[in-house]
Order: sequence, then structure tokens, then C-alpha cells
Amino acid sequence: MSNRDVRKVYSFFEARWYDSFKEVWNRFGTPKAEKKIRIFLKEYVSEEKSILELGCGTGKNMETIQRLNLLFKHYLGLDFTPDMLNQAINKSKANNRVTFKQQDITNLDNLDEKYDVIISTWVMSHIHLPSEVINKAQNLLKDDGSFYLVFMTKPKWFINFWVWPFMLLFKARYVTESEIQKVQNIKEIKRYSFNLATSILIKNTN
Ligand SMILES: C[S@@+](CC[C@H](N)C(=O)[O-])C[C@H]1O[C@@H](n2cnc3c(N)ncnc32)[C@H](O)[C@@H]1O
Repeated sequence: MSNRDVRKVYSFFEARWYDSFKEVWNRFGTPKAEKKIRIFLKEYVSEEKSILELGCGTGKNMETIQRLNLLFKHYLGLDFTPDMLNQAINKSKANNRVTFKQQDITNLDNLDEKYDVIISTWVMSHIHLPSEVINKAQNLLKDDGSFYLVFMTKPKWFINFWVWPFMLLFKARYVTESEIQKVQNIKEIKRYSFNLATSILIKNTN
């Protein structure tokens, strides 16, 4: 699973397929996990909050924030696939609080600002050592900030039977339980759709 292979998948047809695929996934794949993302955004995004998204793709979460009419201070979305970012940029051109940037999230050393809210959805299955990236990203979280992630984990066999061909196609891997255990400051962990998805909420303080 090289970065080049992952980028190739998401660059297919200039990433124009992704949003339609995501609609189907939201409805039939893991609707509860998707609902929980919206609940998190409603609860934690507000006028004074700065937001960082790791692996923003076509900007689906930014779309949700705008659809929910949530105000925010500013938003930075990072992704390493230019075609996905182009889709995201086209959607938020008019909003000068929104910035999308091409960057590999396994190296965040160039970022010096701290954020109130960090999100990352359906990305960690592409990362070799997710716990390392998640723990490093916590350095970019303000003291009272919140970091929310959703990612694929190995489901029960009867779900895995249908999903594993997609995992191959997407050059993705289930995030392992041992990787999850290495993540620091987890305040809440939830499982969805027979374990196909796991969400974690991280907070630096109690
Ligand atoms: C399944 S999409 C998820 C997009 C978005 N978060 C969503 O929920 O719709 C995975 C995204 O992660 C990005 N990605 C994977 N590995 C990455 C890395 N190391 N650095 C930056 N982006 C990465 C891919 O380019 C792709 O846009």
C-alpha cells in the first residue's frame, strides 16, 4: 500500500466518482458512524473554533459543516491527492475562512498553529502506523480541544466477506486493535456496523 497507489485510486476519473460513492456508503455502509460525525460537528464546531481536517478528500465534512449552518473561525483541510482537493476547492471557493492544501498527513511538522477541533474520517486505513500519526497530530490540538476520528476496523466475518474486495480496490487496511491501543488520550470509543467502523474521541484534558 504505497502512497502512490493510494493517490492513484483517488485520482481515478479526476475523483469525480467519489461523492456519489460516498452517498451510497453513507446510506448503506455505516449510516450510524456518519450520523455520529454530524453529531460531533454540531456539538464541537462554533463561531470561535478553528478546525483542522486530516485527509479532507473532496471536502465532504466541510460540506456538512456548511449544510448544518455551523459557524467557525477558520478551517484547514489537508490531503495528498490533488484531484480530491480540486473537488473540495471548487465547492468552497467563495468562503475565505476555508483553505485546502496538498500535504501528506504523516508529516505535520510545518504546521505551527494549534486547533480547537481536529477531524479525520475514513483516512487511517491508508496510513501505515495510524497511532503514530494520531499521537503526533495531538500536538496540534489546543489544551481544551477535541479530536474526532472514524476509520475502518475488521468487521465480523459475514461483513468482511463483502467488504474485503473494496479494501483491496481502495488499497486500504483495517486499523488493528493493537494500533488503537497505542493511541493516547482516548475519551470515547464506539463501534458501528458489526465493527466495520470505529470512532474515537480524543481530548488532551479531562
Ligand atoms: C476515503 S477518503 C476520505 C475523504 C474524507 N475524509 C471523507 O470522509 O470523505 C481518504 C482520503 O485520504 C487521503 N489520504 C490517504 N493517505 C493520506 C496521507 N498520507 N496524507 C494525506 N491524505 C491522505 C486520500 O487522498 C483520500 O482523499
